[in-house]
Amino acid sequence: MYDLMIYPDAGQAESAAARIIIEQVRKKPGSVLGLATGKTMINIYDILWKWENEGEVSFSSVKTFNLDEYLGVAPENRDSFHSYMRRSFFMQLQKKPAEVHILDGSAPDPELECREFERRIKESGGIDLQILGLGRNGHIGFNEPGSPFGSRTRVIDLSESTRLYYMKNLLELREVPGQALTMGIATILEAREIVLVVTGAAKADAFHKVINGPVDVDVPGTALSGHHCVKVIADQAAAQKLHGHDIKVLKFKRATRP
Ligand code: GLP
Repeated sequence: MYDLMIYPDAGQAESAAARIIIEQVRKKPGSVLGLATGKTMINIYDILWKWENEGEVSFSSVKTFNLDEYLGVAPENRDSFHSYMRRSFFMQLQKKPAEVHILDGSAPDPELECREFERRIKESGGIDLQILGLGRNGHIGFNEPGSPFGSRTRVIDLSESTRLYYMKNLLELREVPGQALTMGIATILEAREIVLVVTGAAKADAFHKVINGPVDVDVPGTALSGHHCVKVIADQAAAQKLHGHDIKVLKFKRATRP
């Protein structure tokens, strides 16, 4: 069962998600956080670093693990998810996290890189809180439709729709790589708590399938229904197609600042 919180607009949903992360880090300063990239996360990171700069929270003891990275793209490339994370979050902080782990897209042996990543997650004690966005095709991380729910961190082929979507964001690359490294679905499901953030009308169909549809490997987000602690935060635009009695909390809550 999901704990579903629908907010009137994206801003309130983002601030609710940021609040959950801040509360987690205040409760356990050495938290292991699973982080995501994408448009949805930009404002969430903005809230987090601003609060850190004001001394309201510190990420200095936190360990972070990112969901995914393009295969063949070096950390220094402006289109890498390493760069995204530096720009959107890490560079803005007064004190950097104790450890930052992002898959290296330029690793000479990508399979080994994935295995090492899994090992480091285990070594850190496992992910306490995993933040997820939702792809328009229902993907989580870069686990594209058809990804087995038992999958671990691995190399994956990106779908044409995903590549097309990312095309417009490119800064340096001429085209979106055909493959990526991604945390697997089983890896994601091992996080102690998961927060899925879904905003905007473009996600309404995928979100409807995740919440109301049957569990289906072609909609990777439906794997989350097998997890015991998932908070789903959405705005009204993304939630416009939801229905049914399985929705436990479907009301507007007032979002307060973290
Ligand atoms: C992307 C990323 C995910 C992200 C999601 C949503 O493809 N691999 O980590 O959370 O899909 O992206 P956006 O927020 O840009 O819609």
